[in-house]
Amino acid sequence: MQATIAVLSGDGIGPEVTAQAVKVLAAVARARGHAFSFQELPIGGGAIDAGLPALPAATLEACRRADAVLLGAVGGTQWDGLPPPRRPEAGLLGLRRELRLFANLRPLRAYPELAGASPLRPDVLAGTDLLIVRELTGGLYFGEPRGRHVRDGRRAAVDTLPYTEDEVARIARVAFRAARERRRLVTSVDKANVLHSSQLWREVVVEVAREFPDVRLEHMLVDTAAMQLVRQPAAFDVVVTENMFGDILSDEAAGLVGSLGFLPSASLGESGPSLYEPVHGTAPDIAGHGIANPVGAILSAAMLLRFALGLPEEAGAVERAVAEVIASGARTADVAGGGAAVGTGEFGDRVAARVG
Ligand code: IPM
Ligand code: MN
Repeated sequence: MQATIAVLSGDGIGPEVTAQAVKVLAAVARARGHAFSFQELPIGGGAIDAGLPALPAATLEACRRADAVLLGAVGGTQWDGLPPPRRPEAGLLGLRRELRLFANLRPLRAYPELAGASPLRPDVLAGTDLLIVRELTGGLYFGEPRGRHVRDGRRAAVDTLPYTEDEVARIARVAFRAARERRRLVTSVDKANVLHSSQLWREVVVEVAREFPDVRLEHMLVDTAAMQLVRQPAAFDVVVTENMFGDILSDEAAGLVGSLGFLPSASLGESGPSLYEPVHGTAPDIAGHGIANPVGAILSAAMLLRFALGLPEEAGAVERAVAEVIASGARTADVAGGGAAVGTGEFGDRVAARVG
């Protein structure tokens, strides 16, 4: 197979971890006779520092033409003073919006060997295997009106949480279809005891559920969900929720396994190229030291193989290789607990060697 992959490494640890994902994809291509070409493009803070917008037009165009987009992370403290539309994050949000990537899949599986890195008791964590389906192009992140103003001489600001029934229905269908491949339970998370948008959300999810009589549906308020995630994470299968709730719950879910470094994600639209990125951010405090955990980025590459290129065997080989490297005792600094740590590049080398 021939494929063009747009590589948007971004800021902070983005380039270090993305390099490992590319390394592993290149090893897969060599081993299985595929031809992947990688096209590096600026986004986020790096683009801003080069005098470009956070999402340069040429980057967007190249992404549209690519078979898939692999992204590292964007942002950093040096751009914190900028208003939201001019921050590095605007580059990523613009890309999600322009490519219409409404479905963000964030799977979380607890590796038994890493139980010691979790803040949870091993018996609470055992069996945790969940998928967060986060709505990605609506809700609080994009709703209008938004912005700052002055009212009665005082500073004020507004953000808006809108949803249409079609937006809710299409993300609900993604969740139900995913549940069919898993344990057939969908937990729809909302705040229907307070928010109009959540009442609509719940109504529409109930309607869509009728198309999937073989999948069980439960509703959970977002505050309860935040608590249940730490009390009984193994009870969840597929969680479907609004953009902002999904952002928050997915970091919490990552915390369950002890490090944000392990979570991959795929962002899918109805058609066109899809985007793959680790859930973690730029981690400016450790950037450039070669100690970041590349697992989230490498597992994102596995999702790319599965969803964008239709190569499930190759994807499985990458996921198995990661599990084997972890089982062999390799630990990056985030989960080494003060013990001997393997660097970012070395970890990537070990995974690449196993898929080759
Ligand atoms: C994520 C990130 C982004 C988000 C930021 C970088 C804009 O936190 O992908 O979870 O909030 O969606
Ligand atoms: Mn986030």
